[in-house]
Amino acid sequence: MPAIEIRKISKKFKVYGNEFYALKDVSIDIKEGEIFSLIGPNGSGKTTLINIILGLLIPDTGYVKILGKRVEDESSLEKMNFVSPEERFHWVLSANDTLNIMGKIYGLDRATRKKRITGLVELFGLGNVLNRRFDGLSTGEKMRLALAKALLNEPQILLLDEPTLGLDPDISIKIREEIKRINKSYGTTILLTSHYMKEVEQLADRVAFIKNGKIVQVGKTNMIRKKGQSLEEYFVEKVEEG
Ligand SMILES: Nc1ncnc2c1ncn2[C@@H]1O[C@H](COP(=O)(O)OP(=O)(O)OP(=O)(O)O)[C@@H](O)[C@H]1O
Ligand SMILES: [Mg+2]
Repeated sequence: MPAIEIRKISKKFKVYGNEFYALKDVSIDIKEGEIFSLIGPNGSGKTTLINIILGLLIPDTGYVKILGKRVEDESSLEKMNFVSPEERFHWVLSANDTLNIMGKIYGLDRATRKKRITGLVELFGLGNVLNRRFDGLSTGEKMRLALAKALLNEPQILLLDEPTLGLDPDISIKIREEIKRINKSYGTTILLTSHYMKEVEQLADRVAFIKNGKIVQVGKTNMIRKKGQSLEEYFVEKVEEG
């Protein structure tokens, strides 16, 4: 059974009366325990697909199953968590309050919340900004808070939409190491989008290239490209192809 089963998903958007497909007939099986990366140019449909997997957007056709159950099933939601570059928490709440409130929403008791939050704060170096309001955090601090939130419910499936966007190299390296460690230690299935091909090369077991809402190719990260070709060169070649 795949961790995420994506079947014949299509999604149309209408902008000023013009309809277009953001996703067209997308089918992918993401295996349990793998790191799978979705790559493709801006506007190719990556975030739209992640939102559909999360149940935030309803597709026009097709379905998504999370560990065998339709995403509409309430239990599916509890198995997942996500990080999005657009993630906003309430601007007036401190990082600490944000994590506590999210922990309550996830149904964690006080002792579990305290234990997990302490661990995550240390992991993402949030100690010195814990009492700062969300609107006072830098881009990188916001992203680290979003990552801490995403691990609070110990999800089996993690959806990471550009998790290192806007981060300095030092923290990006730490976050990549952490993504790898979470995957190895807990067998967490991870779906990752990124424009940093080095990051994808380093992390992903398999890659799907998406263009104009269609999956062009899926394969193992080191098999998908020609011999001697970097993933960056592969990307450019795919963009330029017809
Ligand atoms: N709510 C919406 N209404 C109309 N069009 C939308 C909406 N959301 C996304 N789109 C359009 O759908 C297409 C796919 O967008 P999406 O955000 O999924 O791309 P992406 O692959 O995540 O791009 P990026 O790499 O820039 O993050 C784009 O053309 C975008 O403008
Ligand atoms: Mg996107």
